[in-house]
Amino acid sequence: MTAPIVISTWPFGKPANDAAWNVLNPTGFALDAIEAGIMQCENDPTVTSVGFGGLPDASGEVTLDASIVDHEGRCGAVACISKIKNPIRAARLVMEHTPHVLLVGPGATQFALSQGMREENLLTEHAAAEYQKWKQQQAAKKKPQGHDTIGMLALDSAGRLAGGCSTSGLAYKLPGRVGDSPLIGAGLCLEPGIGAATATGVGEEMIRSCGSHSIVENLRRGMEPIDAIRDVLERIHRRRGSEAGDVSFISLRADGVYAGMSLWTKTNFQFALSSPDRSDMIKAATLM
Ligand code: GLY
Repeated sequence: MTAPIVISTWPFGKPANDAAWNVLNPTGFALDAIEAGIMQCENDPTVTSVGFGGLPDASGEVTLDASIVDHEGRCGAVACISKIKNPIRAARLVMEHTPHVLLVGPGATQFALSQGMREENLLTEHAAAEYQKWKQQQAAKKKPQGHDTIGMLALDSAGRLAGGCSTSGLAYKLPGRVGDSPLIGAGLCLEPGIGAATATGVGEEMIRSCGSHSIVENLRRGMEPIDAIRDVLERIHRRRGSEAGDVSFISLRADGVYAGMSLWTKTNFQFALSSPDRSDMIKAATLM
């Protein structure tokens, strides 16, 4: 078994992995590593698709989605949460301090505040300027092509898996729109002793396909991680053809074997890997 190991989506996953690795190596808890790693990305105002600095919805408000899952398959999530910089922490608080899995909207914000999180303005000057440009161009009429979510999966040296994902969702989305990231089974899934998967791209594709759950089920049936992802991408392509937006997944099996794959080559999807013998960006395989 290769452990500890952490993988996460996109080049912004590299500094996030570094933060996770500081927790994970040599004997840290996978869930703590996921929270620390994803918070690094959420706190970075230059990442305009996650957390603070995320591009707003069509009304100009920044709303965030996140979910987290631990080595026992316990999970927590928040959707359409506003004014809270670290939705991944709020998701963990839902998991650890409520009997629920998912809190949404003002209720999610109220809950996070009740747990000691601070209310903050999430709209940076840069994001506000981009929003004004968008309003002038009425880009809402364009179909969403892609979206960069941070998804992170970790296996610690005690063999515990954990995962998380966090996003500000599609830029200029309809107010109230929720993507795949806070939906367990769509944007994130983990089966103890089997493996985990998480997603990035246009969330509607992952929701329609129950993508992350389908990958983990493929692992449970004995497929290699790369084949488990390919099978789901093929299913999406069979149903959606050229209508399918960007979809990419990463997967980490309980023995440390990992993979990443994208539906479209043009997505240029990459993921970050940190393990005892390698710390690198990896260009993902592609289906089409
Ligand atoms: N994959 C993130 C979203 O669609 O919101």
